[in-house]
Amino acid sequence: MNILLTGGAGFIGSHTIIELDKAGHDVVVVDNLCNSNPEALRRVAKIIGKEVPFVEADVRDRAAMEQIFTDNKIDAVIHFAGLKAVGESVSKPLEYYENNMNATFVLLDVMRKHGCKNLIFSSSATVYGDPAIIPITEDCPKGHCTNPYGQTKSMLEEVLIDVQKADKEWNIVLLRYFNPIGAHPSGTMGENPNGIPNNLMPYITQTAVGIRKELGVFGNDYDTHDGTGVRDYIHVCDLAAGHVAALKAIDRKCGLAIYNLGTGHGYSVLDVVNAFMKVNGVNVPYVIKPRRPGDIATCYCDPAKAKAELGWEAQYGIEEMCRDSWNWQKNNPKGY
Ligand code: NAD
Ligand code: UFG
Repeated sequence: MNILLTGGAGFIGSHTIIELDKAGHDVVVVDNLCNSNPEALRRVAKIIGKEVPFVEADVRDRAAMEQIFTDNKIDAVIHFAGLKAVGESVSKPLEYYENNMNATFVLLDVMRKHGCKNLIFSSSATVYGDPAIIPITEDCPKGHCTNPYGQTKSMLEEVLIDVQKADKEWNIVLLRYFNPIGAHPSGTMGENPNGIPNNLMPYITQTAVGIRKELGVFGNDYDTHDGTGVRDYIHVCDLAAGHVAALKAIDRKCGLAIYNLGTGHGYSVLDVVNAFMKVNGVNVPYVIKPRRPGDIATCYCDPAKAKAELGWEAQYGIEEMCRDSWNWQKNNPKGY
């Protein structure tokens, strides 16, 4: 298939290009580079041995999107583009709602105009809020999102469900990602956050490489095995492969489908820190800090549905995730 990746220069998108290429798909990337670097696409090109067709444009730019669909016969879209920093979304709610919602509205409208009604959407475990069931299945009711970023994902899921309900020609797969970490095993591609990282793994790697003095562990009084927050970390290459698998659902005209993409294993903050130090033989100094507002104790999924219906399951464990995250950081201490 010929797949358009919005936000394809970003962390998950760039890794997904490699998996799509391996599976024999062609790609076109559209990205406004507001949170990415074109160097990521040059690194992808080195790995796959060919240039990645790239249009630098904003998905909200209708004329630019029209042009892409006019110039290319697109069979399906994977919609990664969006702003994703939880904390920033609290201080800039309007920017987050405007970007994430409008980009999706423009995309959907242009897609239907060009008769392309196959979409994979980057959703998030954040839509479960403080989950009612652990491990989280896709039937778990959605919960209250504590920040505008999470609200955009939850609201966009509803928009997409309504769009598919109204027009059965649409095939829409909502992929609820758990916590992507890791990097391409080559050590040439990985996560490249701007400024001080919000997420655990980039904070760990930047501490290990000496950019940050110490990691703050946000709370050690949760109801978990060691008191620190538990999450379902998934290797970004496994997550990327999940998109290739989701295309199978599109191919068999799934209508609307929802899948959790996680490993099904929960690791605490200290489990990750300890695994990282052990696997890589480096020290990660840390201090216990107060809980971070909005955080929950435990979040991990039941990935059985994706396995049963898509034949997909995560291959990498926490050791490989820690190894590859470090390999990327130590080879590229300043990112791309
Ligand atoms: P990322 O920021 O690395 O990639 C997103 C890309 O979208 C960036 O390259 C950015 O420049 C681009 N972009 C943003 N708004 C745009 C617009 N209006 N037009 C064109 N390009 C635009 O983030 P990521 O980690 O690769 O995440 C990809 C998707 O997955 C996002 O939608 C994110 O919300 C979602 N997600 C990420 C995580 C995570 O922990 N990384 C978890 C759950 C869901
Ligand atoms: N944590 C720390 N110190 C840090 C950063 C994080 O102790 O410096 C802890 C958090 O308190 C939490 C765990 O590490 O217990 C994971 O935190 P992240 O910020 O890495 O990830 P979250 O689970 O909070 O959220 C992430 C993405 C969301 C996405 C969600 C999906 O940021 O966008 O995963 O599960 F929705």
